[in-house]
Amino acid sequence: MNEGLHKTATADSEMALPSPIKHQPLLDMCIDTSKDLSGGKTSRKASFIWRLLLSMLVVACGLYMCFVKINERNFDRSFIFNNFQQVSTRHPFCSTLPNSSSTGLTQHFPRPRTYQRGDCTCTPVHYFVILSMQRSGSGWFETLLNNHPNINSHGEVFSVKTRRQNFTVISDTLDTVYNLDWSSSSNKNECTVAVGLKWMLNQGAMEYRKEVAEYFRRRGVSVVLLIRRNALRRLISILGNTFDREKPITGTHVSHVHSKAEAEKLAAFKPTLDLKHLAAHLKTIHDINNDALQTFNITRLLVVYYEDLIKKPQRLMKIQEFLGVHPRKLESRQVKIHVGPLSGLIANWREVYQELNATEFRSLLRQDDYYE
Ligand SMILES: *[C@@H]1O[C@H](CO)[C@@H](O)[C@H](O)[C@H]1NC(C)=O
Ligand SMILES: *[C@@H]1O[C@H](CO)[C@@H](O)[C@H](O)[C@H]1NC(C)=O
Ligand SMILES: *[C@@H]1O[C@H](CO)[C@@H](O)[C@H](O)[C@H]1NC(C)=O
Ligand SMILES: *[C@@H]1O[C@H](CO)[C@@H](O)[C@H](O)[C@H]1NC(C)=O
Repeated sequence: MNEGLHKTATADSEMALPSPIKHQPLLDMCIDTSKDLSGGKTSRKASFIWRLLLSMLVVACGLYMCFVKINERNFDRSFIFNNFQQVSTRHPFCSTLPNSSSTGLTQHFPRPRTYQRGDCTCTPVHYFVILSMQRSGSGWFETLLNNHPNINSHGEVFSVKTRRQNFTVISDTLDTVYNLDWSSSSNKNECTVAVGLKWMLNQGAMEYRKEVAEYFRRRGVSVVLLIRRNALRRLISILGNTFDREKPITGTHVSHVHSKAEAEKLAAFKPTLDLKHLAAHLKTIHDINNDALQTFNITRLLVVYYEDLIKKPQRLMKIQEFLGVHPRKLESRQVKIHVGPLSGLIANWREVYQELNATEFRSLLRQDDYYE
């Protein structure tokens, strides 16, 4: 068999080689061989050779594809696969980024249901919450944070009662915020690096304190507890704000102002403090702050005092580091309303002084503790 094959191959080589068919495309060769099949003995021999050559060509092509092209193809496929992962998968690919666990920050790669994070799919996101009390500078603080292009703080999400009827609703609301699906006026683009909200302690945060603290701990939410040390100054701010709500000094009620002139108008109202309940009120505020400090110390916690923030703006750099963003200079358009010594802000200052000087709240009366 081998011999015969060799013989026919040499015998027909003369005939086969000069044939123009050799340079014709595969389709033409197929047609020619099928034609030859119906021919005589020589053409049958030729057809056998052609079939042999054809099979050899096919085998050669197959081997070439297998051994030479395979690497290229594999490379191509893995390249496409990686690109695909970048767009649509989070953990397996994204979690290979450097870990910042040394700072205690937990990285998240949320996949919003309402939009795609695009190029920032693998940009880790940190969760935070600002816990505070009304009139403690949290509005001003939040506008400062939102001045950062990568921080997204959604405001007082829980000021709406239906969102805090029970912990299930609270938890669902928080999930939506941290999944980057909450929408508010502070909405940033898909490259948010720190997402959070401002939450007043009396808006369910303390009512469900155990569950809330556990949620923050479990989900790696960083807690900024913003406390105003001087509860007496805070009380003046509350009374001023309440008065303005009832009889708006500038025509329409405002909680925050953006010019010195407006601030002076609002500060012109001097409240008379109720001496009978003053000490008890200050004690209550003091207790709530302590309670919050203890409740949330199972979380990654940063306590920020409003007074420190006013006096040392560089403190904002540390806060930004705590939130996992690149620190930068932050600005707010809000202007402080009540400035100057306390004696100029309270109508019955003498009585208030007498009343508190004998109590543990004496330190709140300090006259040098004010801002220009
Ligand atoms: C990153 O840190 C978290 C928490 O500290 C840890 O669970 C996780 O395995 C770390 N990931 C990597 C990729 O090191
Ligand atoms: C929580 O409140 C929501 C909304 O009012 C209600 O639909 C749900 O049944 C409540 N869940 C529990 C466990 O009470
Ligand atoms: C949390 O508060 C408790 C009670 O005041 C205290 O003993 C504990 O050291 C605190 N833990 C941390 C981590 O600060
Ligand atoms: C305030 O209290 C301190 C100590 O109780 C006392 O020495 C001081 O005279 C008091 N000041 C005034 C203005 O009453």
